[in-house]
Amino acid sequence: MTADRAWWRRAVVYQIYPRSFCDRSGDGVGDLDGIRSRLDHLATLGVDALWLSPVFPSPMADFGYDVADYCGIDPLFGDLAGFDALVQAAHQRGLRIILDWVPNHTSDRHPWFAESRSSRDSPRRDWYIWRDDRPDAAGGSGPPGSPGRRPNNWRSAFPGVGLSGFPPAWTYDQDSGQWYLHLFLVEQPDLNWSNPEVRAVMAATLEFWLDRGVDGFRMDVIHDIGKDAALADLPTDVAGIPMCSLIDYPVTHELVAGIRSVVKAAPPPERVVIGEIVLPTVAQVASYYGTPERPELDLAFNFHPLHAQWTASAWRRQIDDAHGIIEAAGGWPTWVLSNHDNRRHRTRYGTEARARAAAVLLLGLRGTPFLYAGEELGLADAEIPPDRRLDPGGRDGCRAPIPWDPSDGHGWAGDPWLPWPPEADRGRTVAEQASDGASTFNLYRRLLELRRASPALQIGTFEWLGSSAGVLAFRRAAGGGPEGGGGDERVVAVNFDGGSGWAELPTGAWTVQVSSVADRGGPDGCGAGTVRGRLEVAPDEAAVLAPGSRSH
Ligand code: GLC
Repeated sequence: MTADRAWWRRAVVYQIYPRSFCDRSGDGVGDLDGIRSRLDHLATLGVDALWLSPVFPSPMADFGYDVADYCGIDPLFGDLAGFDALVQAAHQRGLRIILDWVPNHTSDRHPWFAESRSSRDSPRRDWYIWRDDRPDAAGGSGPPGSPGRRPNNWRSAFPGVGLSGFPPAWTYDQDSGQWYLHLFLVEQPDLNWSNPEVRAVMAATLEFWLDRGVDGFRMDVIHDIGKDAALADLPTDVAGIPMCSLIDYPVTHELVAGIRSVVKAAPPPERVVIGEIVLPTVAQVASYYGTPERPELDLAFNFHPLHAQWTASAWRRQIDDAHGIIEAAGGWPTWVLSNHDNRRHRTRYGTEARARAAAVLLLGLRGTPFLYAGEELGLADAEIPPDRRLDPGGRDGCRAPIPWDPSDGHGWAGDPWLPWPPEADRGRTVAEQASDGASTFNLYRRLLELRRASPALQIGTFEWLGSSAGVLAFRRAAGGGPEGGGGDERVVAVNFDGGSGWAELPTGAWTVQVSSVADRGGPDGCGAGTVRGRLEVAPDEAAVLAPGSRSH
C-alpha cells in the first residue's frame, strides 16, 4: 500500500463521546444502540470513520478513561453483541470504527491493580509503578507516607476541588507501605510498560478488538507510557506542570513501535494507529511518527492549533509548523478544533460566523481532520450549574448531550446526564438543522462532500497565496502530471477578521463552491459568478473555490 493510499490520510474522522451521543436505554446516558440508530445521520453528514471514546467497563471516575476491563463493554453502553452489531452496521454504510485504547493507566478497580496492591510479593506488583518512601526529600523526616517523602515532585493532571495547583502524582498505600504513580487521578494508577508481561497482556487487548473487526485505535496519551527507571525530579521551574503533559522519554518510541507492529499484524484492511500526544512542542509531536526504519504512529494528534488564537498570523504559523515540522519529519498532519477535553471552538471563537469559517479551514487543510460530535451543529458548550458539575477536569460543558430533535426530550430516551447545550430549544437540533439549507450542519455536509470528491483537498499539495492582512489563502492541487490534464485544484480563503479582505487567485476563472456565509450569491451558500484575479472575502467568511465557471 503506497503512502497516499493509506485510507486514514483521505478520511475525515468523527469523534463520538458515547455518553453524550444518543440514549436508547432510557438511563440518560448514551449507548451503543443509540449510536447504531444514528448511523444514517453520520453517513448523510459524510464522514468516513467514527472514533468512540472508551466504552469499556469502568467505575467512571474519569468517565471511561479509567478502564476496569479492556475486553468488555460497560453495561451502561450495552454489551459485546451490541458492539458487534454496531461494527457491522457501520461497515455496511462504509463507516470505519476506531476504538479508544487507554494504555497508560487502568482503573484502580481493575483486578490487575487490586492484585498488585494486595502485597509487595504479589506476582502483579511490578505491573504498576511502586516506589518506597524517599528519605531525603525536602522535610523528609516525617513518618512513612508523609508528603515530604514522596518518591519525586511530579504532579498529576486534574486540579482537585478546593486545591490550588495540581495534586501530587503519587498516592501512598498504607497497607503495603509504598507509593504508586498516577499521572492522572488517584483512581488511575499507571501501568509499568517496562514489564514484559504488561506489554504482552496489553497487546492481547488490542488483538481482542482487532479480531472483532475494528479499523484501528486512538491511543490515549500514548507518549506517557514510557517511564525512565530513575523517575527523576522535575526541575523546579516546571515542577508545577502536570507530568502527563511533559513526559517524553526515549524508551517510549520503542514501545510505540512495538504496539504498532501488533496492530499492523492484523489481516487486511490495514488498521490505523492514532496517538494522542500532548507535549509542549510540535517537534515532539512529530517525533512520534517514528522513522522509516522504525515507524510509530500513522497519525499523531497535534493540539497546538486547537490552543491557537483565531487570527491569521497564529494560524499561519500553525499551518507552517504542520508542514515544516510534521511533514518534514515524514508525518501526515492531523487537525482538531474541538474534542471532549477542551471548550468547543464555537465557544472559544465566540461567534457562529467564526466557527463556520473555521469549519471551512479545517476541511480545506492538508492532513486528516477530526470532527467532534456536535460541532457540525455549531454547538457551544453548555452552562453547567455548580450542583451538576461532574468531571474532575472541569470538562462537562463540551460533553453536553446532542439534541436530536425539537421534542422535549430532544430524541433522548431518558433525562440526559448533563444539561443541554445552548439553543437546543431554539432550533439547534439535528432534525431542524438538517432541513435548513443554510444551517451549519449543511455547511459541514457540503464541505465533506466537496472534500470527498476532490483529491486536491484530500491529499493535494499546499501553497500559500497572497492575501490581505487578516486573510489566509492557499491553493491545493493534485494529479495533473507534466502533460497537464486530469489535475484537480482548489483554493481556500479564510477571513479571520471582522473587516473585509481579499485573496489573490491563481490565473484563470474561479468559482466559489462553498462559502461559510450563507447568502453569498445564493441560498445554498454558493457564489453566483465567476471570479478572476482577486476574491473579496467578507468579514468572518471562508470559502472554497474551484477552477472554471459555475456549471450548476
Ligand atoms: C486523555 C483523554 C482525557 C483523559 C485523560 C486520561 O487526555 O482525552 O479525557 O481524562 O487522557 O486518560
